[in-house]
Amino acid sequence: MAGIIFFKTQNLKKLADFYQGYLGLALWLDQGGCHIYEAGNLKLGFCQREKTETQGVITFYYPDRATIDALYQKYREIATSEPRLNPDYNIYHFWAKDPDGRALEFQYFMPPVEAAKNPLELLNPQSTKPLLLLTMLLPEAAMQELKQNFRVLANTQDRLLRREELLAGVKNAEALLCLLGDRVDSEVMDAAPKLKVISNYAVGYNNIDLDAAKARGIAVCNTPGVLSESTADLTWALIMNTARRILPAERFTREGHFVGWKPLLFLGKDVYRAKLGIIGMGRIGQAVARRASGFGMKVIYTANSEKTLDFPAQRVELAEFLKEADIISLHLPLTDQTRYLLDTAELDMMKSGAILINTARGPIVNEAELIKRLQDGRIYAAGFDVYEYEPHIPQELMELENVVLLPHIGSASIETRTEMGLLAAANAIAIIKGEKAPARVV
Ligand code: DGY
Repeated sequence: MAGIIFFKTQNLKKLADFYQGYLGLALWLDQGGCHIYEAGNLKLGFCQREKTETQGVITFYYPDRATIDALYQKYREIATSEPRLNPDYNIYHFWAKDPDGRALEFQYFMPPVEAAKNPLELLNPQSTKPLLLLTMLLPEAAMQELKQNFRVLANTQDRLLRREELLAGVKNAEALLCLLGDRVDSEVMDAAPKLKVISNYAVGYNNIDLDAAKARGIAVCNTPGVLSESTADLTWALIMNTARRILPAERFTREGHFVGWKPLLFLGKDVYRAKLGIIGMGRIGQAVARRASGFGMKVIYTANSEKTLDFPAQRVELAEFLKEADIISLHLPLTDQTRYLLDTAELDMMKSGAILINTARGPIVNEAELIKRLQDGRIYAAGFDVYEYEPHIPQELMELENVVLLPHIGSASIETRTEMGLLAAANAIAIIKGEKAPARVV
C-alpha cells in the first residue's frame, strides 16, 4: 500500500519554492494544478484551489536527536518552537510553519520495539504490604528498606516512565516514590484512588501539583538537608571550573597542544577575594557560602529578611546585588515567583564579566537571554547543572566554550543519594503507618 496526502492551497508556486527549494523535497509528479513531493516514504500533494486549507500537521521524522538539532539550526527562520523533549510520548521535536501557515513538525521518536517494552516489574510479588510505585531504581540500601515495607512495583529501566506507564503503574498504589522528572499532577492523582503519599526523591518539588494533592488529602514529602553539602561541593566545582577555565584547558592538554609554559596561556579569573553573591540563602546557599571563607571572599545575598548566619555575609537589595557580585550562585526553589527571576533586565544589571552558577532549577533564568550574553562575553562564564527545558540543552549553549554543562548531578554522591533514598523511603513508610513523616511538604 502506498498513499498521498493532499492539501488545498491558493499558493502552489510559493509552496513549490518552499517544499522543493527550501526543504529540498523531490518533486515526484507535476500535474499542472497539483504538485506531489516525496519525503522518504511520505508523499505530499498540494493542489491549487480557491481556498487554502491548513488543518492537520505534517510530521517529518528522523532517526536521531542530533539531526533534529541540526535541522533546527537550518530552519530557524520558519521554526515556531525550540527543539524539546516530550517524555510523555518519547519524542524530541520542534515545530515550524509552511508559507500557508500549515503546522510542520520535525521529530525523532524512540523506536517502537524499545517503546513497547513494559518497564514495570513487581520486585517482591509475594509481599502482602501496601503497594508502592517506584519510578526508578534507587541505591541498594533504600531498595532494601522499600522492599521490607512495601510491595514494590518498580520501573526497572534506565529511563523516565512515559506518561501512560506512570498512569497505569500508579493505579493501585498507596504510595508513589517519584523523581523530579515525573510530572505528578491531578491526572496522576485521579488515576490513583488509593494514593496516600507522594514521596519525591528530591528536595525540590516543582514537579508536583501541591494544590491537587492537598485537595485530595494526599501527603507530599521531599528530601531536604541530606543533599545540601554535596550540592554545595558541586557548586564549587562549577565555580572553579568556570573561573579558571579548567575544562577547555584540560581538553587542550589532552589533545597534545601543551608545548610549554606561557604567560598568557588560559588566563581565567581569580576566585580568591572575589565577591560571592548567593540568591537563596537556605540550607544549600549557606553551605556554599560557608565554603567561601577559605577563599577570602566577601559574601553578599538577597533575601526578603535578614538571616541569622554562622559566617559573615551582607544582605543587599537585588539591584545592588547584581551590580556587585563577581560570582552569582542560585539556590532557591522554582515557584511562580522565582520563574525568570533573572530575566533580560536582571541579566543586564549583572556586573560586566561576572560568572553565573545554577544548580537550582533551569527556569529561574531566562536561558535564551543568558546565552546571548555569554556569546558576546558580557557574562564571563556560566556553570549549568540544570536547564530551562531539561533535559534539552540548546545547541547554541553546547557550542560555547565559556560554559560548563553538567547533567543535573548536584546531589550525585553515593552517600547522599543513599541518604536521599532512605529519607524518601522513611517519608512514605511514616505516612502509610499514619505517623509523622520526617519531611512533609503538605
Ligand atoms: C533536588 O533534590 O531537588 C535536586 O535538584 C536533585 O538532587
